[in-house]
Amino acid sequence: MSSVPTPARPRALSGAQPTADSYHLGNYFGAFKQWVALQEDFDAFYFIPDLHAITVEYDPALLRERTYVAAAQLLAAGVDPERSTLFVQSHVPEHAQLAWVLNGITGFGEAGRMTQFKDKTAKKGTEAASVGLFTYPILMAADILVYQADKVPVGEDQRQHVELTRNLAQRFNHRFGETFTVPEAHIVKATAKIYDLQEPTAKMSGSNASHAGVVDLNDSRKQVAKKIRSAVTDSGTEIAFDPVEKPGISNLLTIYAALTGRTIDSIVEEYAGQQYGHLKVALGDLVADFVGDFGDRTRELLGDRGELDRILAAGAEKARAVASTTLDLVYERSGFVKRG
Ligand code: TYM
Repeated sequence: MSSVPTPARPRALSGAQPTADSYHLGNYFGAFKQWVALQEDFDAFYFIPDLHAITVEYDPALLRERTYVAAAQLLAAGVDPERSTLFVQSHVPEHAQLAWVLNGITGFGEAGRMTQFKDKTAKKGTEAASVGLFTYPILMAADILVYQADKVPVGEDQRQHVELTRNLAQRFNHRFGETFTVPEAHIVKATAKIYDLQEPTAKMSGSNASHAGVVDLNDSRKQVAKKIRSAVTDSGTEIAFDPVEKPGISNLLTIYAALTGRTIDSIVEEYAGQQYGHLKVALGDLVADFVGDFGDRTRELLGDRGELDRILAAGAEKARAVASTTLDLVYERSGFVKRG
């Protein structure tokens, strides 16, 4: 029997859905910043999960456009196609093929315990939800396992999905012989959950009803400064980091520290005795500059679709070489007759 191929460097893998017109600041600090850092020492695979995006109602033309925007934004964030493999999920059919195999070893109750499905169906009920939305974490497990990934850099909301992935990998290995690397989530605590600026106890999310509390990475400098200045802050006046009692100001301090690389303590010290407004104006300017520059880079990259296509095609080719090796092994272990 063939054995598990061992990559020269440990592997990192992650993806971010193209389900909105832009990624947002939560995606950047919760995930992309880590993606970029990990490409130094890891054989990194980053992708745009378009197959995941069709599990909710969507418009095909919009999905295509959003996929290009997603690619440009990931490059603008610092994903380097010379060092990392950047690709679109639907270009690599092995994801869906492995997902089917994993469907066979996932318990119905186990899938039903995924809190994201419960959250996403809380409003309209499960009757209106697609089966794809229900089985979505199994496709995510396939995304990770097909590359034999060691580390999965994500925000806190994806922890449970990575845990399911680990369970499925261990179960498959136990039943059919060592096949998959059992991956670990890589979650940076300080920025694992960035909150909505208008509702600082809910996570910043592209699907939030209002975008007033979501800083999109394609917002104009003016929009960004306004959103930060209008952030809901807490009663009281003291600038202090206390996520339970002061979720609004603590969220702003988290963003401030993440953006500048400073410690929260040093920022709190600098603003001692000042009003919330001072902090908001200063942070508004900082984030506006960051997002403004980000938008300029993105627009430039989007101007050359041919180059984006080339980068994604090269990525898909590299990804398929790895994914098909894993899938061959999985098919062999699963008892499928090899095509003669
Ligand atoms: P998605 O598309 O919702 O989000 C992409 C990444 O951004 C992180 N994130 C946040 N981090 C901090 N604060 C926030 N407010 C915030 N909002 C989002 C997410 O945790 C994620 O890391 N199922 C995944 C996509 C996916 C995937 C995968 C990820 C598909 N296959 C394989 C890793 C490995 C998702 O919906 O993330």
